[in-house]
Amino acid sequence: MIRQDYDLSACNTLRLPARAQLWGEFSDVSELLTLLSAAAASHWPVRVLGGGSNVLLAGDIPGLVICPRMAGVQVLRQTAEFSWVAAEAGLSWHDWVVQSTAYGHGLENLALIPGTVGAAPVQNIGAYGAEAADFIDSVTGVQLSSRQLRTLSAAECRFAYRDSVFKRELARDFVITRVVFRLPRQFAPQLSYGPLATWSATAVVTPQSLIEEISRIRRSKLPDPQQIPNAGSFFKNPVVSAAQAAGLQREHPQLPCYPQAGGDVKLAAGWLIEQAGWKGRWSGHAGMHRDQALVLVTDGTAVYTDVERLQQQVQADVLSRFGVQLEPEPQLF
Ligand code: EPU
Repeated sequence: MIRQDYDLSACNTLRLPARAQLWGEFSDVSELLTLLSAAAASHWPVRVLGGGSNVLLAGDIPGLVICPRMAGVQVLRQTAEFSWVAAEAGLSWHDWVVQSTAYGHGLENLALIPGTVGAAPVQNIGAYGAEAADFIDSVTGVQLSSRQLRTLSAAECRFAYRDSVFKRELARDFVITRVVFRLPRQFAPQLSYGPLATWSATAVVTPQSLIEEISRIRRSKLPDPQQIPNAGSFFKNPVVSAAQAAGLQREHPQLPCYPQAGGDVKLAAGWLIEQAGWKGRWSGHAGMHRDQALVLVTDGTAVYTDVERLQQQVQADVLSRFGVQLEPEPQLF
């Protein structure tokens, strides 16, 4: 069923006001294809919305906004080493992380990340030393331009830090319906993140205790979108050349730097924003969170221009102070 003039303010975790001209939900591929045929017949543009935790709604949306509701899980294959498990796009990411431990491991570090399974590959969600891409075998969905069902291998998804083909060539042209994960069956926890290493020195590390500890760390730093509107990290951690990082570190010895595989260096945007004076500082109805300067929060009445103004102020101050250009992590819808 297609609904008209649908309020999206409760469908995005920044709670920005916006309405969709048309709204349709689907519970399987055939319902999706029916919606896409209706859109093609009437020349409606189509956009996909998952949990709305990584989008910026800049105003009302013309055409049809569609939302996956299927949330099944199916074991496809198991060997002594791995389980291949398909999870459907509408399943809540955290519910999937908890369920996944029955089949294999690795996703524990990604507990409590807001959003859905279908959105996870788009920006290759990551936290505490793990990334979704480490465990994704393939991604299936329907390409809007051809209305054909396609399966992309992990290599074809071209995963990188908070990036994939779904943000590039396939942006706005692909509806993810399910993701196949390849999960190692042996629990070999990734504990390299500083606070996790400290915790694990004295804790009994099980998949469940790791999920609980990750959840505790997240709750201590990151605001709950149910209480304070936010979209997680608002900026990506910038990746700069080794030479630029070395220059910055000479001037600012405290600057956190993470050397990358190719020789570049990732910097902590939260540190740069805090040093630029924006931690806990507000501009109108939006501010940078008092406990984690990388997270933009609102008072619940903000509109897109409030967010855009703050984004530009933070970018300008970090650029003039450090010569580093910050890029937003959420995508304009
Ligand atoms: N820092 C500050 N001030 C701040 C925030 C951070 O000085 O206000 C410093 C910290 O002290 C630390 C460094 O910056 O030395 C890194 O901070 P943190 O470990 O909190 O992680 P992050 O780089 O700010 C990234 C991800 C998060 C993920 C955490 C943990 C990005 C854009 N963000 O944040 O992901 O949870 O690492 O792995 O990569 C998200 O993408 O929405 C997200 C929350």
